[in-house]
Amino acid sequence: MQPITTSFFGQSLISIGQFNSIAPVLDLFSTADKMRTVIEKREIFEPLRGKAVAILFYQPSTRTFTSFHAAATRLGAYVIDIQEMGQYSSAAKGESLEDTMQTIEQTVAADLIILRHPEDYSSQIAADTVSLPIVNAGSGKAEHPTQALLDLYTIYQKFGRIDNLHVAMVGDLKYGRTIKSLAKLLALSGSNNRLTFVAPKELAAPDELLKDLGSNVKITCKEELNGTLAEADVVYMTRVQREWFEKEGKLDRYEQLKNQFILTRHLAGLMPADSIIMHPLPRVGEIMQEVDDDPRAYYFKQMRSGLYVRMALLARILCQEI
Ligand code: CP
Repeated sequence: MQPITTSFFGQSLISIGQFNSIAPVLDLFSTADKMRTVIEKREIFEPLRGKAVAILFYQPSTRTFTSFHAAATRLGAYVIDIQEMGQYSSAAKGESLEDTMQTIEQTVAADLIILRHPEDYSSQIAADTVSLPIVNAGSGKAEHPTQALLDLYTIYQKFGRIDNLHVAMVGDLKYGRTIKSLAKLLALSGSNNRLTFVAPKELAAPDELLKDLGSNVKITCKEELNGTLAEADVVYMTRVQREWFEKEGKLDRYEQLKNQFILTRHLAGLMPADSIIMHPLPRVGEIMQEVDDDPRAYYFKQMRSGLYVRMALLARILCQEI
């Protein structure tokens, strides 16, 4: 994987591991601030006019798909999108990912491909196959780097800092990809950050992730939420991912684990007044709707960050200067 420099120009974003320092991320955030102004003032800003962006999703999505689509369109790009690649592309006839990537490069004359795929190494495989930048919009159980960027941007907007934070990640830390990318980004963000992983043993953060994080961040692993809520700056809830249990023929275990952690209004009330609740969404019961009115509920505001950060990323990758 190529390290990402502050220019971003012409580069793929496959993994948070491509960042050797937090500097390019903060630089991207300053572009995201400009994109926020463009959106809030309803300005016409189309630096991607003449560029073609392909959005290819092999897994369902609401947020990532629509925000990338809106980002590319608002910046003036020609967008071709297929949301159910497994059903509506020749993948349904058995075409390989490599052949599909080469096809899109040719038929669309694409300048960039945004890819969501159930295999962990899919984006890397795509980047190794074609000569245009690939943006990973979620790969298997491994990574969701643009989600991590929008999560950190949300945290930065709220607290004005990305260091000296206590972030509790709760739920399915085994199959969930968003927490893996965010944990790596927080480890890069500051040596005083603290992560508390809260999950049933069966869904605990994988050893590989703990090894990747190393000593860059203070880590605690727990099976109970008790005590953590009152101490955390950010409580990052996640859903237990039914689809992976189904694939492994373990739906009975899913039923037993799915309701392990449910954030109620009462529990949210135990959190510090200045803390926030985040969730990549979709939620399937782990944050009750009664929490939505709590000023600490940030999971809908968090989504808007996705538009700004994805606009910034596309513009920085496709334009030499922005
Ligand atoms: N957060 C996220 O990836 O949501 P979608 O699956 O709806 O894109």
